Amino acid sequence: MLAPRPTAFPAAITYTTAPPTAGETIALFCAAGLNGPLDDNERMQRMLDEAQYLLAARCGTLLVGLVRVLTDFSFNAFVADLAVLPRFQRRGIGSHLLAEATEPFAGVKFIVQPGLDSRDFYAKGGFELTTCMVRPRAGVGTP
Ligand SMILES: CC(C)(COP(=O)(O)OP(=O)(O)OC[C@H]1O[C@@H](n2cnc3c(N)ncnc32)[C@H](O)[C@@H]1OP(=O)(O)O)[C@@H](O)C(=O)NCCC(=O)NCCS
Repeated sequence: MLAPRPTAFPAAITYTTAPPTAGETIALFCAAGLNGPLDDNERMQRMLDEAQYLLAARCGTLLVGLVRVLTDFSFNAFVADLAVLPRFQRRGIGSHLLAEATEPFAGVKFIVQPGLDSRDFYAKGGFELTTCMVRPRAGVGTP
């Protein structure tokens, strides 16, 4: 469900390419309702270590948003995760993270697997609905 637009003036948000810890990322993904290896610190750490592009949003020391992209920086890219803490949503943080991750790479095609809730968000970021096929992870019924 679309989070209500906050009425309070947004606190200062800083953006950094310094990776968050696996614990911080798991806390963010849990709060934002993302799936992932939420009970597996080591696997989450590998996800952070191996991402070619990562941008974190912080309010003070608190991790409030994260985008993680897997790419060759040349032809194709996959927005693997994008999440904003619910109480920080509707302040432009998600759009900023997505724009920073995509706009410098005009010649690259970006793919995302959006939840139903975030389709409009990605459409605003220039994504178009298309068909692609997914080979699920072992042991996971739905992609
Ligand atoms: C999707 C998500 C990253 C958007 O982050 P955000 O910081 O709230 O986004 P923004 O404030 O930049 O929103 C920009 C615009 O996108 C639209 N939008 C944002 N979230 C939306 C949502 N969940 N559904 C539909 N439209 C949305 C709004 O129209 C908004 O513009 P407006 O505030 O002027 O109306 C955030 O809602 C989130 O973390 N959701 C849960 C996890 C998720 O679904 N991640 C994406 C799957 S990979």
